[in-house]
Amino acid sequence: MAAHSNAVHGGRRRHVLLFPLPYQGHINPMFRLAGLLHAHGFAITVFHTHFNAPDTARHPDYRFVPVPDGSPVPVAIEDVVAQILELGVACESAFRDRLASILDEYSRDDVACLVADTHLLPIFEVAARLSVPTLALRTGSAACCASFLAYPMLFEKGYLPVQGMQSQRDMPVVDLPPYRVRDLPVIGEDDGGLVRELLSRAMTAVKTSSGLILNTFDALERRELDGLRRDLGVPVFDIGPLHKLSPAVDSSLLLPDRSCLEWLDAFPPESVLYVSFGSVACMSPRDLVETAWGIAGSGVPFLWVVRPGMVSGSADDHRLPEGFEAAMRKRGKVVAWAPQEEVLRHRAVGGFWTHCGWNSTLESVCEGVPMLCRPYFGDQMGNARYVEHVWRVGLEVGGDLERGRVEAAIRRLMTDEEGAEMRARACELKKAAAECTGEGGSSRLAIDKLITHLTLP
Ligand code: UDX
Repeated sequence: MAAHSNAVHGGRRRHVLLFPLPYQGHINPMFRLAGLLHAHGFAITVFHTHFNAPDTARHPDYRFVPVPDGSPVPVAIEDVVAQILELGVACESAFRDRLASILDEYSRDDVACLVADTHLLPIFEVAARLSVPTLALRTGSAACCASFLAYPMLFEKGYLPVQGMQSQRDMPVVDLPPYRVRDLPVIGEDDGGLVRELLSRAMTAVKTSSGLILNTFDALERRELDGLRRDLGVPVFDIGPLHKLSPAVDSSLLLPDRSCLEWLDAFPPESVLYVSFGSVACMSPRDLVETAWGIAGSGVPFLWVVRPGMVSGSADDHRLPEGFEAAMRKRGKVVAWAPQEEVLRHRAVGGFWTHCGWNSTLESVCEGVPMLCRPYFGDQMGNARYVEHVWRVGLEVGGDLERGRVEAAIRRLMTDEEGAEMRARACELKKAAAECTGEGGSSRLAIDKLITHLTLP
């Protein structure tokens, strides 16, 4: 990608300042965005917390500014919302000092903008006080963003908090199709208080910024993007899928086990099921065992990411059933972390059992890989709804995990005609993604608009 002359101002490169939320699913799109803007000629400064700090050596062209964060530690899912809310507040005053000294150092006219994760409202507020324009990066889907906007209405109309019997959870949210009550963004048993605060603050960050950047693309979410443009009152830049537009960036917090790529080489096309639940989701020890025997019973070859800490209980409690790995050696491989984008691109991979984090969903869509969906929290249920019901490129593994049901779901996806139809539709989406990111495609045009926006006086 050629350097954009507009990124140069008065003979000097303009700076874009970035502040990601320090979780893998948020760091990846922010670093992709950094790579994209850098390729367009902008100088990049990344503010970051000590918690989940990036490996700065991997990005020699960027400047990194550490911001003390009150030293958070990894927490259980139920506590992540409180942690995110506290993180922004804990960083506020140190960020103010660091931003002020950056502004003293760079000429103010040379600072194009601060792009921060929508979940860091205190960071946006500091920037506003120092007259630095902001853009908000929301790392989830456009549909998810619309559900954040609708959150107060969902309480007023009684859809939230989610409670009661299964029939109520399956009730359609008529004001927000295609969601059912159980697809709405919730975390654990929260009564809506903390999540409500988190989402309301995120939407304040968006509305008080000069625009919203979304990691999605027109052909995937046109209706949802139109709705956001109508309701938000700020420009919306749909510049995704970012991993396809800025492919060389490596922002993984864990070291991927690359041996799985060679291992995949031995299998026929579209024969292997890739299983991964992202960087945060946790399962019970019982679910781990049922998943393991379900995968084994399906007879389908598999590559499974069992991340340290993925099983609730203790950090190293990711115990697979005794003898499982040895028994499965010929047709299964378990790794602690995979080079996921490359795995999904591998010709041997024919299906993805995913938690439906937005990055994983997009990465699967872009490679034409159909999905088994097992969402855990937050936006994942809504993403799964779109995968199964709107794009029809996957199916949900709902209810209690039980090995017989797991086996059946895997066979439906990997060997049945139904799965082949999902794969065909997934290939169509892959083509649509390639068109959006190709010359003259909608995401390319949105990037041009974003660059123009960043270079306005
Ligand atoms: C979190 C939330 O769970 C998700 O719903 C939200 O949209 C973003 O924040 P996470 O759970 O980590 O993210 O899921 P996801 O969004 O899928 O991001 C995970 C990232 O880690 C992906 O980019 C994926 O490629 C990468 N990954 C995952 C690896 O590189 N290797 C692995 O083994 C697993």
